[in-house]
Amino acid sequence: MAVPIDLPKVSLILAPTPLHRLDRMSDRLGIDLWIKRDDLTGFAMGGNKGRKLEYLMGEALAQGANTIVTCGGAQSNFVRQLAAACSRFGIRFIAVVMPLPYEFEPVEGGLKASGGNILLDEILGADIRILPNGTWDHLFAETSKVAEECRSAGANVYEIPIGGSSPQGAYAFYEAGKELLDQDSRFDLVIGASSSGSTQTGLTYALHGTGIPFHGIACDPEPEMVLEFATLAAGVDEITGMNLNLKPEAFTFDLRFVGPGYGVPSEGCMDAIRLLAQKEGIFLDPVYSGKAFHGLIEMAQAGEIKGRVCFWHTGGSPALFAMS
Ligand SMILES: Cc1ncc(COP(=O)(O)O)c(C=O)c1O
Repeated sequence: MAVPIDLPKVSLILAPTPLHRLDRMSDRLGIDLWIKRDDLTGFAMGGNKGRKLEYLMGEALAQGANTIVTCGGAQSNFVRQLAAACSRFGIRFIAVVMPLPYEFEPVEGGLKASGGNILLDEILGADIRILPNGTWDHLFAETSKVAEECRSAGANVYEIPIGGSSPQGAYAFYEAGKELLDQDSRFDLVIGASSSGSTQTGLTYALHGTGIPFHGIACDPEPEMVLEFATLAAGVDEITGMNLNLKPEAFTFDLRFVGPGYGVPSEGCMDAIRLLAQKEGIFLDPVYSGKAFHGLIEMAQAGEIKGRVCFWHTGGSPALFAMS
């Protein structure tokens, strides 16, 4: 059980999400492979972001916000789920997005800035402002400008960091990790996709002291992200009063499977997506969970992971419909 806390929260998702064994993939990889189905959180086509949104929307409503502003890649799953949550609570929603934001150098290829999540955002009536590609820092700065303009026009704005990665978002994943342990705590490893960090931070936090490591497969080529994970964990310390004091070294952020860059599916990612679909009838996504599952396959084949393993499926399959 998670430490109970007193944060405003709304109810959006169906939890606990299912946990089940992958028989045919287990045979294929020679490990005892299980899957935590956070692709099935239910709200607005599911995925990991619904858990974070229960707390973020709770806080936005508690503050009386009438406008929410966030940012992301054009095919962001978070933007889609947040757009849906704003529809549900009657809040104006603006997302500032770039097709392929990057850290230093532009990358080629990637998903289309149409179809997939963008189509769903349109159906949800979201105000999506698509900028030309640029750095993440430029995207963040432009988003703050939009939020400021709304404030100047009299709106009560609640700004949400990319991917919902605030301490509340990380706390939601601390709860999710405890949910897994309540279902089954006999794993040797939990593994899944990691990007803006609150998923990995919360799960690492929940598993701390259990002897079960969380192995994050990076979807962004940014090794310094672990510094942000430690900052998020400090935020969870404040919420829970647990003071785990997790350092950047507490986070395994494996950069080997990022491929060409953020938002650009690698060949290994696409093969992994096909393999899981053809062995188990389960869809991954081309930006996050496909890369994570690619990592899992390679590591199992190399003998780097053994025993009873849980793959944390973070969702994202609507982005499959934006493949160019
Ligand atoms: C499908 C999917 N998986 C994984 C992630 C990574 O989660 P986080 O941003 O919490 O690291 C995201 C978010 O961007 C996502 O949409």
